[in-house]
Amino acid sequence: MAIPIIIDCDPGTDDAVALMMAVAAPEVFNVLGVTTVGGNVSLELVTQNALKVLELVESDIKVYKGCSRPLVKPGIMDADYVHGLDGLGGVVLPEPNRQAEAKHGVDFIIDAIKSHPEPVTLVPIGPLTNIAMALVKDPSIKKNIHEIVFMGGAMRGGNVPGGYAEFNIFNDPHAAQVVVTSGLNIAMIGLDVTHDALMTEDYFERLGLINNVPAKFMTEMLRATFEIEKKRYGFGGCFLHDPCVIAFLFDRSLVTGRHCPMFVEIGSPATSGQTVVDWHNWQQSPANVFVADSINTQGFLEVVMSLIERYKH
Ligand code: RIB
Ligand code: CA
Repeated sequence: MAIPIIIDCDPGTDDAVALMMAVAAPEVFNVLGVTTVGGNVSLELVTQNALKVLELVESDIKVYKGCSRPLVKPGIMDADYVHGLDGLGGVVLPEPNRQAEAKHGVDFIIDAIKSHPEPVTLVPIGPLTNIAMALVKDPSIKKNIHEIVFMGGAMRGGNVPGGYAEFNIFNDPHAAQVVVTSGLNIAMIGLDVTHDALMTEDYFERLGLINNVPAKFMTEMLRATFEIEKKRYGFGGCFLHDPCVIAFLFDRSLVTGRHCPMFVEIGSPATSGQTVVDWHNWQQSPANVFVADSINTQGFLEVVMSLIERYKH
């Protein structure tokens, strides 16, 4: 039975791959809707990008615009230096034939959860603003949320200036703190995992042999990111951060981790957005988050390839 999910995203090259993977596996994912949040690029652009990518894979999954800025911080620090000014690595896709729905993304999340006959899994792969807003606006949705599996955070290091926080959490640490203290089943797929989800040249070559439109789009889009990351990190490859969440939900055996006490630093201006994990939990404090700490990289990349290969044209 396919799990009902809502993907909350900020496409973003890796978000785009995650969306295509989820759409390719309807036997696993019943995508109730896609909501967008300001992050990699502006809310307007990420929303257009979500519509364009869904159109590319001929999906009619509805898109709902969410929040354009964090709960408390004055604005997002975008990542056009990685994803390109347009958010899709400079790849020009046709303008979408449809628009985002009129309903706000936060209201869609609330309404979809309250109306769905079985508990819903939330899959945020951008800043957690929409998720936090939904939980604050209508806490009653908690009783029909099965799990929140988010891409974000890091036990070690980070990927924003200063190296202490991960982009999604850095952009809205207050929202992240609302989510991880919600008492719900939370899983954190952070940089500890996604920095091993590196798509290397050999897999680019394999991708180039897949004869369908999504693979060709992915090759062109990620090539730009590949070169940018090569300059930033000095090695060839691009990190498939968000696809790790989809792959984890597709096959949980790909990832190891444990339930730990975890909180988000919001008080210190010097380290705001840092995700603090008590991995050993010697004090036996309440463990509020499943924190992933490793991924089977080859197994992960095989899942990515196998899902993209499913597209017939
Ligand atoms: O740190 C990586 C995360 O930030 C990914 O979700 C990427 O898309 C950006 O949103
Ligand atoms: Ca993202």
